[in-house]
Amino acid sequence: MTGADLDELDAASLAAPAELKGVRIHQGLLPPAAQAALLDDIRAVVRAAPLVRPVTPGGRAMSVRMTAAGAFGWITDRAGYRYERRHPSGVPWPPIPARVRAIWEAVAGPARAPECCLVNWYADGARMGLHQDRDEGDFGCPVVSISLGDDALFRVGGTERRAPTRSIWLRSGDVAVMGGAARLAWHGVDRTRFASSSLLPDGGRINLTLRVVTPPDGGAA
Ligand code: SIN
Ligand code: FE2
Repeated sequence: MTGADLDELDAASLAAPAELKGVRIHQGLLPPAAQAALLDDIRAVVRAAPLVRPVTPGGRAMSVRMTAAGAFGWITDRAGYRYERRHPSGVPWPPIPARVRAIWEAVAGPARAPECCLVNWYADGARMGLHQDRDEGDFGCPVVSISLGDDALFRVGGTERRAPTRSIWLRSGDVAVMGGAARLAWHGVDRTRFASSSLLPDGGRINLTLRVVTPPDGGAA
């Protein structure tokens, strides 16, 4: 990470995150100029690897559209949830943009480099049901989540499905870190507030999640 990259992050937010059931939330970490630059990066990712509408193994179309950057992308279809080295069209995923990696380096602590940047697109009405992120091979590394665009009501529970939950509105420029005891916390997005942000002129929300995919010994995921 270069000094120039660090200058783009809000120092107070970096130093003093909010906390929700063990999830650290750096509210307002990305100032508007940094959000706009990230948006350009993500548009380039989507041009190289177009958004797809994933289908659950049970056959239900998800409301969120997805693509990815990095060595691996997370996908789901009738064959199951998994990481793949290629977009469903057969093209390799584009590299994780440097600005996205710099955010990981600022908040993830002494973790390995991220191997996947999942891109979730929430159009009006999209949501994501409560789930755990557990298809990765190294739970010692956090999942880092970057919010851009419309506000999202983010729900976090415990590591048991039925543990009580709490919710917080994630806003454009917030960065959440699910690590340590919260790495396997159940979480989801109940709804977004369409067109609540001016970052995207036509409304919508982009969520980026950075993950380490392979096991610590470097074996296959
Ligand atoms: C996710 O859990 O993959 C997405 C979380 C979010 O959209 O904030
Ligand atoms: Fe998740």
